[in-house]
Amino acid sequence: MVRSVRSAGAFGQHLEMTPEPATQVAGGAEPVSDTPALDGSDGKSALMVEHLTKRFGDRVAFDDVSFEVGYGEVFGFLGPNGAGKTTTVRTLGTLIAPSSGSAIVAGIPLTAKNGPAIRARISLMPESPGLYLRLTVAENLKCFAGLYQLADTRYRIDRALQAVNLTDRANDLCGSLSKGLRQRVALARALLNDPAGLFLDEPTSGLDPVATREVHDLIASLRERGVTIFLTTHRLEEAERLCHRVAILSTTLRLIGRPDELRQQVFRRSLDVRVRAPIDDPAAVLGALPGVEGWEPTPSGYTLAVSDPEISAPQVARALVGAGADILALTEAHHSLEDIYLELIDEDVEAKRR
Ligand SMILES: Nc1ncnc2c1ncn2[C@@H]1O[C@H](COP(=O)(O)OP(=O)(O)OP(=O)(O)O)[C@@H](O)[C@H]1O
Ligand SMILES: [Mg+2]
Repeated sequence: MVRSVRSAGAFGQHLEMTPEPATQVAGGAEPVSDTPALDGSDGKSALMVEHLTKRFGDRVAFDDVSFEVGYGEVFGFLGPNGAGKTTTVRTLGTLIAPSSGSAIVAGIPLTAKNGPAIRARISLMPESPGLYLRLTVAENLKCFAGLYQLADTRYRIDRALQAVNLTDRANDLCGSLSKGLRQRVALARALLNDPAGLFLDEPTSGLDPVATREVHDLIASLRERGVTIFLTTHRLEEAERLCHRVAILSTTLRLIGRPDELRQQVFRRSLDVRVRAPIDDPAAVLGALPGVEGWEPTPSGYTLAVSDPEISAPQVARALVGAGADILALTEAHHSLEDIYLELIDEDVEAKRR
């Protein structure tokens, strides 16, 4: 990543049922008939978060966070360890109360009284699966389906097991499963109540590439079915692949948008040129071109910050050839979500050092 081409001032269902017995409220227990439709027909956001803050004593877990998530959107929530992602999920999932601010979850205002109604419409897959290890997979799901007061338990369990590809392990003890398989049981549990909104806290953490791909496929199919998904992850390629929009949290919300929008916010557009050998006076050649806002040498050529790569690329090519360069490649630089993330988080680390 080339720091000099960064733009100047651009920055800008039921639920987890264990291991928190106090929150194991049966979601179906309260009437939800006066709550809005979940299919988006009420036109409101699935999630609306306004100035939400959570403190544990003196420690601020997340501060003054505001964002909206649309119905059917897959929303990625990224940030370094301790950024406040899980605490946000736990707060929006009604497991803990916010210190200040407000939120609407699945169309329902986040209040202690509305907890059961919200939990009837959402599901939360926590960081650690929280299963009963001495029960089988099917017994675990049956137990949770009972706590959730769901009807058609058998059908729901079969369907959830199929969705995570675990039908053949239904009678295995959870304690005998590998970490990845336990994750999948937790995911099956989160699907039991057909949630309209699903909070997934690092669902692929610790999974092998095949299991990861299966979870990705599952998320993609839920996305196609219009389930709103709030996905925290450290896998940036996962967020880029699955999420309509992403937010980067570092106690405060640092950035939010589509990955391509974030790229433009964080980095200026730029061209990478590879040449066989450096030219004699690059400052005179590259610095004089209109539309080139800055340049710097790289090990194999030059990187140029440009206002419009389509206009500048031919001009740069002509100028370099005119100066005797052999051009091997000339491409627009592509910044990944990882570049954006690292740029932002590096800034935070630097700010803390100051
Ligand atoms: N119950 C709690 N009591 C006190 N502090 C807490 C509690 N839960 C979380 N914290 C603190 O809040 C901050 C945010 O933690 P959180 O678990 O939300 O981070 P995270 O972004 O999910 O991190 P990771 O990527 O490591 O999972 C951390 O400093 C953490 O120590
Ligand atoms: Mg976490």
